Order: sequence, then C-alpha cells, then structure tokens
Amino acid sequence: MAIFSHDFEFFSYPTSKGLPVQDIVQHAESIEAMVSKYSAGLDDNNDDSLNSPTSSCSTRKPSAVNEIVLLTGSTGNLGCYILASLLSKDHVRRVYTFNRKSTDRNIMDRHKAQFEDKELNVALLSSPKLVHLEGDVTLPGLGLSEKVITNLQQELTAIIHNAWNSNFSSPLSSFEHHIKGTRALIDLARSSSRRNAIRFLFTSSITMTQNWDESQGPYPETLVMDAMTAVGGGYGESKYVAERILAKSGLEVISLRIGQICGGEPNGAWKSVEWFPICVKACWYLGAIFVPSHETNWMTMDSTSDIVLEIVFHKDPLPFAANLTHPRPVSSAFILHAVRDALIQELGHGLSPESLRQVSVKEWIDMLERSAITHNAEPRNISRLLSKIIFKLPSFVTLDISNAIKLSERMRTLEPIDARLVSKWVKFWIASGDLGQSGFCEDRSRAHL
Ligand SMILES: NC(=O)c1ccc[n+]([C@@H]2O[C@H](COP(=O)([O-])OP(=O)(O)OC[C@H]3O[C@@H](n4cnc5c(N)ncnc54)[C@H](OP(=O)(O)O)[C@@H]3O)[C@@H](O)[C@H]2O)c1
Repeated sequence: MAIFSHDFEFFSYPTSKGLPVQDIVQHAESIEAMVSKYSAGLDDNNDDSLNSPTSSCSTRKPSAVNEIVLLTGSTGNLGCYILASLLSKDHVRRVYTFNRKSTDRNIMDRHKAQFEDKELNVALLSSPKLVHLEGDVTLPGLGLSEKVITNLQQELTAIIHNAWNSNFSSPLSSFEHHIKGTRALIDLARSSSRRNAIRFLFTSSITMTQNWDESQGPYPETLVMDAMTAVGGGYGESKYVAERILAKSGLEVISLRIGQICGGEPNGAWKSVEWFPICVKACWYLGAIFVPSHETNWMTMDSTSDIVLEIVFHKDPLPFAANLTHPRPVSSAFILHAVRDALIQELGHGLSPESLRQVSVKEWIDMLERSAITHNAEPRNISRLLSKIIFKLPSFVTLDISNAIKLSERMRTLEPIDARLVSKWVKFWIASGDLGQSGFCEDRSRAHL
C-alpha cells in the first residue's frame, strides 16, 4: 500500500497561535534582524508613504508594445502559467526567465514538462520573445554574464519575482538565500539608469498574515510595520521580510499576498503532492469525506496568473500591496461534496454517494489515525500533519481585497469554484495515476479494520 509516498514535512503548517509570548517576540526579533541585514544601503523611505499609490516613484508609462519582463520561478506551477500568458501577449516584446540550474534536465525540457502537464500551449516555448537565463541569485551578478546584466539594465520594464521554496515547516533561516536573492534583484533594478521605469511585482503569500489580530479588522493592503503579525512559520516570515526590504527599495513595487491556489483551466492540473489532493486521496482510501465549516476562497492557477499580469501592466501607479483571495468564496462543504460526486462518477461505478460517507473532521482524522495504526504505516505522520492543516484552515485571517478588485477586471469578475472545476481536478489526479480504482478496492476495505 503506497498511497502516501511524498515528503509530508512540507505540510506541517506551524502557527504562532499557542506559542509563548517570549517565542513570538524572539521570532519577531529574528525577522527584524534579517530585514536590517538585507536592507542595508537602501533608501530610507518613509514606510507610510508607500501605502499611497500617488506617492509612487514611478515614471513608468506602460507602453503598447514594449514590455520586457524578467520572470523568476517559471519552472514552477504558477510560474509556467505566467510565462504562457506573457508569451501570448502582443504588448510583451521579450520575456527573460530566470531559474536555478538543474542537473536533471535542460531548461527547455523542464518548461515543456510543466506546459504539457497543464495542457498549456507548448508552441509558445518556441517564441522568439523567450530568453532563458539560468543562474544563482546568491552569486555576484546573479551568476550571469556582464553582457546579460547590461541588457537587463537597459531593457527591463518589469520584474515578476515568483521563485520561492514552498516548504512550510522550515525555519526563517532556511529562506535566507531567497531574501538575499530578492535583494540581488532589487539591486539589479536599482542599478539601471531607468530604475524608475521598472515595476517589481512580488508573489507573496497570505501566510505572512498568520498572526494578525483580527480585532483590528481584515488584514490591510498596506505595509504592516509589525513583525509580530508575521510570526508562525519560516515561509510566511520570509515573505514578510522580503516585503519589508522591497518597501525600502525605492522602486515601484507591489506585493501580492496570494491565498491558496488550486487547479484551474484548461485541465484542472493541481500537483498531487499538495495538501488538498492528498486529503482527497485519503478520503477515497478511507471511504469517507470530512466537511469543515469554513469557507473556501481559493483561486485557480490561470486566474491568479491573469491577475498578476493585469496588475503588473496596469496603467495607473500601483499601491504597495494587494491581497488575492477569491472574492466569492464557496462553502468547504460544497467543495467536498463535489469531490465526492466526482470520485464516484469517475471511479466508483455502481457505488452510491453514501459509499463515501460524510463524517466530522475529528472523526475523519481519527479514521486516518486508526488506519495508520492498523497498517503500522506512514499515514500516522500524515494524519497528524493533515489534521494540523485541516484544523487550522478556519483560522486564516480575513483579508481586505479592495486594491486587487480595483486593479483587476479578472478579480472583479471571478466565478465561484463550481462542480465542473472540481471534477477536472479529480480527473487530473486520476489521469496522473494518483487516484485509482485499484487503490480504492484494495485499500479502502482495509481502512475500516
Ligand atoms: N501555490 C500556492 O498555493 C501559492 C499560494 C501563495 C503564494 N504562492 C507563491 O507563488 C509562487 C509560486 O508558487 P508555486 O505554487 O508555483 O510554487 P512551485 O510550483 O513550487 O514553484 C516554485 C518555483 O520557485 C523555484 N524555486 C524553489 N526553490 C528555489 C530555490 N531555492 N532557488 C531558486 N529557485 C527556487 C522553483 O524552481 P525549481 O523548478 O528549480 O524547483 C520553481 O520555479 C511562490 O513564490 C509561492 O510562495 C503560491
């Protein structure tokens, strides 16, 4: 039985809730220390002034046909959607991708695999607009040749900084190279004689809002100058550090605090190593779905990518931050019921919906635990980790999304997640071999032991 073969360390969402106050203070001090270390030498902006778009330093006039963009992390899930969209836009003249080197496969093959997985138009990768750069953000000059750096300094109109390690269980210190890299990209833009014409968009995460005190209202779309609000795990803390440094860069910056991204069009692709696909697999295995009470405000990969592009090319000066969560959430019960229907439709020939009975979250976690004990198997860790995530879901803070709504037509008109999309996710997991009839027959009968 090998239903859970991934590295589940990733899914241990730490949270500051319950941490002793002195620990929170200590984390906040580490955050501040890293902010100071990597903002040394940057302009001493008045951080409050950042929160007004009219105060923008930009002299940038979005041009009709002349955008030249540097995109980091284009080999990843969101990155490849952004790349496909950039390449298909007429007003984008060149796209430089910037990724770390891989010993496995060449850069073209890595992109091709991602495009194929998501059924994006692979032909776009042959576009003459596309220039692949490979380097190391921690090396001088990003590990690129002087000639390339000069070209970037002379040409860039936008940087979309999207590369980041999504390991939720690592401490802040393990993200230091990302902070160093963010500073290196800031320095690249600042070293250009056209620095005021370069926009810098950072794909941040709502996990940096994890310790926000909700009695103050929704998390604002401004720079929050209190490191304690970000305490709770290295990933979110590192996004917050990056944001604070970007705020001092003197560049026209926007930080997008993005919520959970789910599979989208065209084929519902959603990597099965992520926590929700794993939950679905466990539901199928256990023969039971859980129904959390909170709402789900996930956004699809394609819509998130569209919103990123609308914002980075927006004609008006940008605010410092925008929060991206779905403006029309749906109940989690709706999602889980749609998952159940799709599983039965696709895999459970002859089964009734009751075959996947609905249980409380606690009962579901207990079932997973019991099943793990019965099998003396890996799922014991998994159930602990999944329970941390599932129980934590309702505690994600509410965010103000006014800026995002104002800046993006796509955001304004987003359709709620529907059963058709959920069914695409399930079909994608089946097609990629992560869910299957045999797993159900073989494993589920044992799960009730
Ligand atoms: N997915 C979500 O639900 C979500 C939600 C909020 C925010 N975000 C943010 O959106 C961005 C993209 O997320 P994603 O889901 O597309 O992530 P992903 O699929 O894991 O892709 C991450 C990208 O970053 C690169 N990367 C990771 N670690 C790196 C390192 N140490 N050095 C250099 N490059 C590194 C990866 O390169 P390799 O191909 O070489 O690994 C890949 O190109 C990230 O900044 C993430 O924090 C994502």
